Amino acid sequence: MEERLAVRVLKSRAEEVRNLLKKLNLLDRNLKPKIEGDYVLFPVRNVEILEKTLSEYSLETVYTLFEKRFRKPRSIKDVLKEIVPENLHVYIPSSIDLVGSIALVDVPEELKDYSGEIGRAIVKLYPKVKTVLSKEGGTVGDYRIRMLRKIFGEDSTETVYREHGCLFKLDLSKVFFNPRMSGERIRIASITRDGEYVLDMFAGVGPFSIIIAKKKMVKVKAVEINPDAYRYLVENIKLNNVSDKVTPVLGDAGKVLENEKEIYDRVIMDLPFKSLEYLDIALKVVKKNGVIHLYTIGEDEDTLEKNVEKVQDKIREMDHNVEILSKRIVLETAPRKFIIVVDLKKIS
Ligand SMILES: C[S@@+](CC[C@H](N)C(=O)[O-])C[C@H]1O[C@@H](n2cnc3c(N)ncnc32)[C@H](O)[C@@H]1O
Repeated sequence: MEERLAVRVLKSRAEEVRNLLKKLNLLDRNLKPKIEGDYVLFPVRNVEILEKTLSEYSLETVYTLFEKRFRKPRSIKDVLKEIVPENLHVYIPSSIDLVGSIALVDVPEELKDYSGEIGRAIVKLYPKVKTVLSKEGGTVGDYRIRMLRKIFGEDSTETVYREHGCLFKLDLSKVFFNPRMSGERIRIASITRDGEYVLDMFAGVGPFSIIIAKKKMVKVKAVEINPDAYRYLVENIKLNNVSDKVTPVLGDAGKVLENEKEIYDRVIMDLPFKSLEYLDIALKVVKKNGVIHLYTIGEDEDTLEKNVEKVQDKIREMDHNVEILSKRIVLETAPRKFIIVVDLKKIS
């Protein structure tokens, strides 16, 4: 119970006054209004416009005890607002990534002291989460792995994640994985046609390869340089029963494809920070009229056009004729840092 200022009105005016208080944002939604005899008492927030409203609408006030309203928290903001001082509310992270039983969150410097509470709040919100990890910076190195710090829960960085009906076992401290690319993966799977031969040049633990193989009658070659990611790729191929469709290859795509004899209908180049360096190889191994999905990084507002120009410049340096089928910002990975996809068709 909590003592609060209440607006007291006759039941006959209750609906009208409730709407008014709601409209003026004066109603305290954390407490339950109550009935006393012929009166309804609404808990109100004691803010500046309250005085004016009271006199304008001839409303009387009293102090009384209210019961707290039980609200199921809907966001981490909801939960943390109770814990973090008001001046820090603006820093409360609004988005988290859920990967199986693990939640990944960006804890801003200003909230570092509240890391444990943030972790606990996330577990409260998502009971399936067993471990909360804080992202310590972006993905780095050739393997695109990120530093992580456990802020709450079990000491495990390995989990099984489900996406588009497929299962992916992975260890977030050893391999790259981004659940936010899920929409892009299903887009590519849906435009892939039965009978295609697909090359996934930077396969990671296999999400593009496996989802495509699961949805279509295709053959896929999945190349990955990180031995840990490759190990999970092999395991995930088995886990999803696509061993007859997906062939994993451990190694540097540049070297693996140097003397490639096969040609492909579709090539996926999901290595945004340096995919352009491999575009000549992709163009060599893709069929005439075959498609390349090239992911790159852009860092400002005109990022899309600038990146397409960069891709076109690169193609001009090589001896190929290419049509740009589509271009799109896929997601923002950090403020003003975007992942862009350009779909290319090789004409010659
Ligand atoms: C951005 S991640 C994408 C992984 C995967 N496509 C996904 O959706 O999770 C890029 C992957 O390419 C791998 N990689 C980096 N350089 C490579 C290379 N030269 N050849 C093959 N794989 C490479 C990294 O280890 C990483 O797993």
